[in-house]
Amino acid sequence: MSLALAIETSCDDTAAAVVDSSWHVHSSVIESSIDQHRAFGGVVPELAGRAHLTTIAPVVRAALEGAGLDPHAPAIDVVAVTSGPGLIGSLLIGLSAAKAYSLAWELPFVGVNHLEGHLFAPLLERPELEWPLLTLLVSGGHSLIVLQLAPGEHVVLGETIDDAAGEAYDKVARWLGLSYPGGPEIDRLAVSGAADALNLPVSMTGDDFDLSFSGLKTAVVRATQKHPEVALADVAASFQAAVAEQLLRKLRRALETHPEVRGLALAGGVAANSALRRGVGEIAADAGVGAYLPSLAMCTDNAAMIAAAGLHRFAVSGPSDLGLSARPNWSLTEVS
Ligand code: KG4
Ligand code: ZN
Repeated sequence: MSLALAIETSCDDTAAAVVDSSWHVHSSVIESSIDQHRAFGGVVPELAGRAHLTTIAPVVRAALEGAGLDPHAPAIDVVAVTSGPGLIGSLLIGLSAAKAYSLAWELPFVGVNHLEGHLFAPLLERPELEWPLLTLLVSGGHSLIVLQLAPGEHVVLGETIDDAAGEAYDKVARWLGLSYPGGPEIDRLAVSGAADALNLPVSMTGDDFDLSFSGLKTAVVRATQKHPEVALADVAASFQAAVAEQLLRKLRRALETHPEVRGLALAGGVAANSALRRGVGEIAADAGVGAYLPSLAMCTDNAAMIAAAGLHRFAVSGPSDLGLSARPNWSLTEVS
């Protein structure tokens, strides 16, 4: 059995975790700098980078101690680290730290694609789920529909051609005067609103699996300018219904096109959304396949999922070169 220490610093969360090759999480520590960004209505890259620099060493130490390991000479087999995609200034802190630990402890290290990390979350929480899985990966930075044939073997069926789903939530929330991050705020308001209050378009109704949220965001701006009398909760409910309708429609079609699929999975920060969780659960029940609705801790960025993906990559392809650079735009389709 191998043991990995993983480091994740692609956005505003500084995270470290220890996970073994049986997918058991020994420790998982997360320190977020979100409070520093709230006043700016979004993550400020320079602030995020500076926060990682001050928190990385204590977070790694806490993860090692939490797993019962010696923080000066831990008995681990590999150091895994997110090397992309993400904010360059944030990625560089985690990557430099991982290289330093690997040199100091004379251990191999492996660079991990952050999105592939999200795809490994079901193995940690629901190891009994049958594969292939069809995964809706929706966060503040990404929106993809992915066919996962086996752990580490994936095909991107479609992705957003403009904004990510979470980005649209945050932009609409900002327009409505709600605080950042806007997704949870809109989700909370939508519960008591009428989804048919605004007539919003459902984008991307074609046969492919690509997604788009930019037009919907503009439609909300126009509709609320034209109908300022519509209550905030009704606007939230109408927007949430249009987002969920697009995503769930595509997921349903992807499931029809791939009858070999045994389970549906949600991943990324927007996987916390109540309408999506309900919808994915219903589609899975109708189709008689399993459903993975991650815990809140596993929706958002964490290092346990990076450790899982890192253990797989290390077993399949061996260690990364110490000259590995950060890849801020590293696409999931380029991972092999
Ligand atoms: O994965 P994540 O923590 O960070 C990255 O973007 O990588 O996702 C954060 C995103 C934000 O855009 C936030 O507004 C959105 O997830 N979000 C939600 C909900 N909770 C978080 N969006 C809709 N409904 C929610 N309940
Ligand atoms: Zn993420």
